[in-house]
Amino acid sequence: MEVENHKIIRSFITKEDAQVLIKWIEEIPQKELVSNFHLTSLAKALNGSSYIFDVSKTDLTRYVTDYQRVNLNSEEGVPDLVYRLIDRISKTLRVSTDHVFFQAVDMHRGGMINPHYDASLEGYINYKCNLCILSEEYEFFFGDSKFRVGPGDLYCFEASLYKHWTAPFNSRRVFMSFGFMIPYRDLGREEEDPRVRLSRRIEKYFQRRISN
Ligand SMILES: [Fe+2]
Repeated sequence: MEVENHKIIRSFITKEDAQVLIKWIEEIPQKELVSNFHLTSLAKALNGSSYIFDVSKTDLTRYVTDYQRVNLNSEEGVPDLVYRLIDRISKTLRVSTDHVFFQAVDMHRGGMINPHYDASLEGYINYKCNLCILSEEYEFFFGDSKFRVGPGDLYCFEASLYKHWTAPFNSRRVFMSFGFMIPYRDLGREEEDPRVRLSRRIEKYFQRRISN
């Protein structure tokens, strides 16, 4: 059986909720950029601000947020709406909230996401649910497939198993990326799955080498 590798839920949030999120993201205090050589080219191509928040604060989420961060932000001032969204996503997608983190991103026109895999750890898939808050319609490239995304849409995918990217944006783009670290089996994957084996090789030979 082919594992369903992504899901799209159109109009997951209202325009009013999108406005609340935009206002909050615009007011997140800017911190000094920590130079992060893992992600330098990704961060540069982004052409904007990225803020990461560790919700669960487990060993897993600490590892991934530390690996991915440009800045780690405190949860002070995060609207309740964000936690309600995490709850809705977890219930709708039936994914566990044991290891949750999220990112808020505000990209200027011309920004793009370079092709990459998200970090993972042995036994887990980094499952991302991205919420498009403000943007032109765009194509999201994911492994061998692509799909269209518009404002309000939520799209969820196995970010540590498939390479993903976008073309440069002709508009500002604000989005949130909710990350759930999920055991392979909970997503219908086995240890022997070629995708899982690939992500384990990336973790073993690439992530660890870089972080040493
Ligand atoms: Fe990613």
